[in-house]
Amino acid sequence: MTTKLIAPSILAADFGNLQRDVEMINHSEADWFHIDIMDGVFVPNISYGMPVLQAISKHAKKTIDVHLMIVDPDRYIKEFAALGATNLTVHYEACTHLHRTLQAIKAAGMKSGVALNPHTSVNLLEDVIDDIDLVCMMSVNPGFGGQSFIQNTYKKVKQLKEMIERNNAKTLIEVDGGVTSENAKKLIDAGADVLVAGSFVFKAENPTETIKNLRSIANS
Ligand code: DX5
Ligand code: ZN
Repeated sequence: MTTKLIAPSILAADFGNLQRDVEMINHSEADWFHIDIMDGVFVPNISYGMPVLQAISKHAKKTIDVHLMIVDPDRYIKEFAALGATNLTVHYEACTHLHRTLQAIKAAGMKSGVALNPHTSVNLLEDVIDDIDLVCMMSVNPGFGGQSFIQNTYKKVKQLKEMIERNNAKTLIEVDGGVTSENAKKLIDAGADVLVAGSFVFKAENPTETIKNLRSIANS
């Protein structure tokens, strides 16, 4: 079995001590930095944008997994590549020409990701699955950290895993929102490859230890 990955979400970090929190992730067993960019239009919240990503990139020594919760993401693909994004994830619901967007992400040298809102059917990816390196399965409604996990996600992860296998695709499944040590194992058993965790990591007394535990649960 391939190693299951942990991606702490910087949205829950202490922005007054951003470099400290980035170094914490560098020195922890975490695999990726998960970076949530929100525009206040696609989602009812504004998080942070390019200058903050640039500051994170400067210190981050691991994969930079950017999750765009913005309308018309095509406008910024090249810019995110230049800012050091390894993976660039766009929302299915925000892309009229998703196939074209995915090709543009790859042409810019990044891995292509598609995020699905909780109400969006997995079946809608059937005709584009070969072009997707990563599906970000939203297990909360995007826009905020610290929300509770939506139980229907297990079913969607299983459906997606089945589709990936049927198509012989190499797509990774990432679960994003409300992930804790309580649901981690069940998500991995359903077919998840990457677990994003914001509040669970950063609100913990010992984030480094929390990442280590989550990673060992995911790989148990
Ligand atoms: C929600 C974001 C998530 C969020 C996860 O819109 O996409 O990545 O930061 O935070 P927690 O783990 O606190 O639900
Ligand atoms: Zn996210």
